[in-house]
Amino acid sequence: MQQLTVALAKGRLADEAVNLLEQCGVRCAPLRENTRKLVLGDADNKYRFIFVKPADVPTYIERGAADLGVVGKDTLLEESKDIYEMLDLKFGACRMCVAGFREQRARVTHNKLRVASKYVRIARDYYAAKGVDVDIVKLTGSVELGPIIGLADVIVDIVESGKTLEANGLAVLEEICKLSARVAVNKVSLKTRKDEIMPLIEKMRQITEGRCL
Ligand code: PRP
Repeated sequence: MQQLTVALAKGRLADEAVNLLEQCGVRCAPLRENTRKLVLGDADNKYRFIFVKPADVPTYIERGAADLGVVGKDTLLEESKDIYEMLDLKFGACRMCVAGFREQRARVTHNKLRVASKYVRIARDYYAAKGVDVDIVKLTGSVELGPIIGLADVIVDIVESGKTLEANGLAVLEEICKLSARVAVNKVSLKTRKDEIMPLIEKMRQITEGRCL
């Protein structure tokens, strides 16, 4: 039988995702080896794991290059792909927020609110729903610099501990939504490989359902 391909987001969610798979009975020792390999199998050769940038996980799943994957809700919202979000895994809890200086500066010189973010779609949708016309500045990291340097008035970004904001003299101004890790599945795989995918998701559900965010 062909292995199921599972895409895992590299970075902050990866270790917890591997821990959860192990709790589900997947023998993950090969995934813990210090290697630069991007495709790894489990010890029973039932799965093929690929480690990809978080923003690419939904793309692999949508195109069927991965049958399922573990990725943050932030990425699912931002990438907005045609895939099924199956389960909240209740780890990687954080919030999508608008942040900036407590007293906004610099607005007087600009007629539109300038919003710096990696999450352009989330920011655009949030302000559109409020009926606020904004100028969105796309950045790829260190977004907190936006208000500090005067590139933007506020940022839309993930807040986990709040330490990055605090260290840079910024604060949460509005909460957009709560975030956590999710399992997402390719639509065709869910039909054609249901008997392999659903038992794994069911185990994940049993393990995570008692957890609080
Ligand atoms: C994220 C986010 C914030 C920080 C928030 O960045 O963009 O900068 O984490 O975490 P905290 O509230 O616990 O301080 P990430 O570490 O992913 O790096 P990046 O700036 O390169 O996106």
